[in-house]
Amino acid sequence: MTADLFDAASMYDEDYLHFFASPQGGAPTHGPLVGTAYTGANQAAGLVWRLLDLEPGMAVLDLACGHGTLANALAARGCRVTGLDSSAVFLDRAATAGTGVEWVRGDMRQLPEWTGRFDRVVNWTTAFGYFDDDTNRAVLREIARVLRPGGRLAMDLDNQARFLADYTPSRITVRRDDGDMLVDHHHLDPLTARFEVERTVIRDGRVRRLTFLKRLFAFPELRDWLTAAGFTGVQGHGEDGTPLTARHPRMIVTAGLQ
Ligand SMILES: C[S@@+](CC[C@H](N)C(=O)[O-])C[C@H]1O[C@@H](n2cnc3c(N)ncnc32)[C@H](O)[C@@H]1O
Repeated sequence: MTADLFDAASMYDEDYLHFFASPQGGAPTHGPLVGTAYTGANQAAGLVWRLLDLEPGMAVLDLACGHGTLANALAARGCRVTGLDSSAVFLDRAATAGTGVEWVRGDMRQLPEWTGRFDRVVNWTTAFGYFDDDTNRAVLREIARVLRPGGRLAMDLDNQARFLADYTPSRITVRRDDGDMLVDHHHLDPLTARFEVERTVIRDGRVRRLTFLKRLFAFPELRDWLTAAGFTGVQGHGEDGTPLTARHPRMIVTAGLQ
């Protein structure tokens, strides 16, 4: 396994849940939309249901499921859902919904012995592209391995065209009524198509800094990576399910295995 480019555990922690998974959490006040463009888990679940032709009883893997909003929503609609994530804090929160999802702590670079086990895989809210590119491509091969023949994948990522059009070097990402705040500085490296984010977390008067990285993808690049990993019929959509345009904040990529 390759060395991590950033410390995911310091990023996806209780502070993250405080800002992004509490009723008090807020939307970005200005600048590029890094988070999700969906108003709730049900909207995302409805979109996935439609794009992936989901049916009750299907075996679905939510890869990097986070605190489980999409996994729980798909389970509530009758799918047999497994949620895998590296964050114990997030999985603990996810399990409180009690929807019967199987929660697995693991690493997307090396999935368990699940070869051919899933009808569908979902990977949601920019939960791909955290590693060097060889490793990112290996993650796609892992996804192909755990899907059955004829299985399908949906990934929800930032839409590069919109992200760049809205790009701003710094912004207040979340500001809560109680004064807690996330302030982000972005450094975009065109040679790697990664943006490095220096995040300042201000909570209860305490200040903490961390950095994380994300990879931006143009659709044709990811289509070619998916094709090389064994997928066919790769399509790009916006968050409303229509064909991807430069205006959509989100890029939903769907693909199938032969
Ligand atoms: C942006 S969050 C998205 C979470 C969730 N999919 C959602 O829609 O809310 C990215 C997730 O990737 C997880 N993650 C980071 N590195 C990982 C790894 N190597 N293997 C599995 N999960 C990882 C984090 O813990 C976090 O939950």
